[in-house]
Amino acid sequence: MFGEKEINRLASDIVEAKKVVALSGAGMSVESEIAPFRGPGGLWEKYNPEEYGHIATLRNAPEKAWLMLLEMHREIGKAKPNRGHYALAELEKIGCLSSIITQNVDGLHHVAGNKDVIEFHGNLLSVVCMDCGYSKPSTELDLDAIPPSCDTCNGPVKPDAVFFGEAIPPDALMRAHEESSTCDLMLVIGTSAMVQPAGSMPQVAKRAGAKVVEINPSETPLTGLISDYIVLGQSGDVLEQTITAVKQMKG
Ligand code: APR
Repeated sequence: MFGEKEINRLASDIVEAKKVVALSGAGMSVESEIAPFRGPGGLWEKYNPEEYGHIATLRNAPEKAWLMLLEMHREIGKAKPNRGHYALAELEKIGCLSSIITQNVDGLHHVAGNKDVIEFHGNLLSVVCMDCGYSKPSTELDLDAIPPSCDTCNGPVKPDAVFFGEAIPPDALMRAHEESSTCDLMLVIGTSAMVQPAGSMPQVAKRAGAKVVEINPSETPLTGLISDYIVLGQSGDVLEQTITAVKQMKG
């Protein structure tokens, strides 16, 4: 695991960088009691992503897709930002973080106070009708009438998140690419980097000459290949200690 040496190395990389961008994944929200997708206790252990997380299932067997979505909806409804989210909000506030590219659909970076958050996979906080486009906050869903239908045209309703088989929202993809290719430090936090195109943003950064640092309790396919080093630890612990060290270094 990590120690003071790793924290000081990460903090000085952040202080020395001209532009820092973060790429966050489900590991960021584990401390907020939101299950990750992969690994022990992950959502994909319970639900096959290609089946339950695919846009085709939402269209052809909505009651199946909503079985999983309801579980995610309930977890996110109760979730609060954790120390890691607040540390990234502080980092942006003191001018040491340009943006966060998040794969998470829980909206917790916004709640923690980050202004520039690129929601690469959308979010579960609102739902939209697949026929007429009518949209409303997910909190207004009648959880006894699942799968939900549109209030205006009775069409099928989906969360505003990106499902397997769907394209990444073009503006999110453009901005993420632009941020990744113009930063000189990318923090890759709590992601297995298994899903494309999000998983290749560290490569875009690397190719543009940036230093890439992972924060994760375990190694990923990026480790030793794309990332310059990994701080082996939980994001809450690492980020909380890092922001303290950064503020000390900045004086
Ligand atoms: N702190 C930091 N990282 C953690 C923590 C923690 N406390 N706990 C687990 N992790 C790490 C795991 O080691 C793993 O590398 O978080 C990562 C979680 O990986 P995934 O569950 O695959 O989540 P993610 O990488 O965000 O998945 C990407 O896949 O299914 C799609 O759309 C879904 O956005 C998701 C995408």
